[in-house]
Amino acid sequence: MVRFDSSTADVASVDGVLATTRAVRLRLDLEREVDDQILLDCIDLAEQSPSGGNQGSRRWLLIRDPALKARLAELYMASAGKWMIEARDRIVGTDHPNEQVMRSAAHLAEHLAKVPVIVIPTIIGRHDNSGRPGLFDSVIQGAWSFCLALRARGLGTAWTTAILNAEDDIAELLGIPDTMTQIAMIPVAWTKGTEFGTAPRYPAREIAYFDGFARTWERGPSDPPRLADGPGTVVEVDIKAQPERVWELVTDIDLGARFSSELLGADWSGDSTGPALGATFTGRNTHAAIGEWSVPCFVDVYEDGKAFGWCTSDPGNPGARWRFELEPIAGAVRLRYRGLLGPGPSGISAAIAAMPDKEPRILERRIDEHRANMQAVVDGIKELAEA
Ligand SMILES: Cc1cc2nc3c(=O)[nH]c(=O)nc-3n(C[C@H](O)[C@H](O)[C@H](O)COP(=O)(O)O)c2cc1C
Repeated sequence: MVRFDSSTADVASVDGVLATTRAVRLRLDLEREVDDQILLDCIDLAEQSPSGGNQGSRRWLLIRDPALKARLAELYMASAGKWMIEARDRIVGTDHPNEQVMRSAAHLAEHLAKVPVIVIPTIIGRHDNSGRPGLFDSVIQGAWSFCLALRARGLGTAWTTAILNAEDDIAELLGIPDTMTQIAMIPVAWTKGTEFGTAPRYPAREIAYFDGFARTWERGPSDPPRLADGPGTVVEVDIKAQPERVWELVTDIDLGARFSSELLGADWSGDSTGPALGATFTGRNTHAAIGEWSVPCFVDVYEDGKAFGWCTSDPGNPGARWRFELEPIAGAVRLRYRGLLGPGPSGISAAIAAMPDKEPRILERRIDEHRANMQAVVDGIKELAEA
């Protein structure tokens, strides 16, 4: 039995494992044997994960037989490996955002048969989309704990599911009854080298929503919330179009006026004639309670094809900050539009000054208004891009 006292824990080591358990493919050591006991120890740890109804229904298949691994490799090749290899060969040397992932994925497809152990976690029951809790959702966390425990010991894994298209073939090959659901196929090996880093991810502040969907805060929020806390919101839409087309639309500063009830239009100002870091433009707005006004805008984020953002009024003390981000996802582009109020003065400052005790409510309403307009803008961009 493991006893663990968090008051004396080495948090840095635990965090290190959590932060660096990567999809290891290129660095799987195909030569070094993996002892059964290490796998069983990690399964014992994984079994401590939560299960619906406290029923331990996970069953773990450990595949070492070269003939079985060869057949799994064939199935993997047919279900996704061939495609991964083609994709790698197509984008190699092009600086495509998926170049590294595809190089790694294709390598796994080509070497799967040589991986020392392939682990297939399964669970008793069929994952039938019935919404019944305690099935699928009672095995994922266990299987991930298994990967974490291995990482802590110097072994690498890759969470893969592409082969599950061939679930019936796998079931037949390994004699898995049709009352079970297969969850993943996890190659396991010692890693070549033991040091791994973190991968780029959204910072928690951008994706953690406080007391309601899409409610973000740059800091705090304090109680009660203040403009100085940086209240914000975000809308996202997946667009089936070429990224270049979406980029062209988001960098057209005047386009939002077609969809937003507040933006009347925008024009490049000073020497600026188009989107670039440091470029300036003037936005013209209207609002029932505020009237019509113009605001100077400063492009403060510009990553070609990826991110376009600006702040209003004063770059040193902006009234608001806005940012479009494009992320390639399978078969589409995910467009994310982020807005953030303060810390400087803006259209709501007068209202807050007049009714300081209503500041939280004023902020909430303003954020809701912005969110509705932002949603209209990304929906409009989607419609144009997909047309
Ligand atoms: C649900 C799921 C399915 C996945 N399926 C595959 C797969 O079939 N083949 C593969 O090589 N990687 C697969 N991966 C691994 C991801 O590609 C990997 O997490 C991604 O490349 C990021 O790498 P990282 O985990 O090192 O950050 C899968 C990951 C998840 C979460």
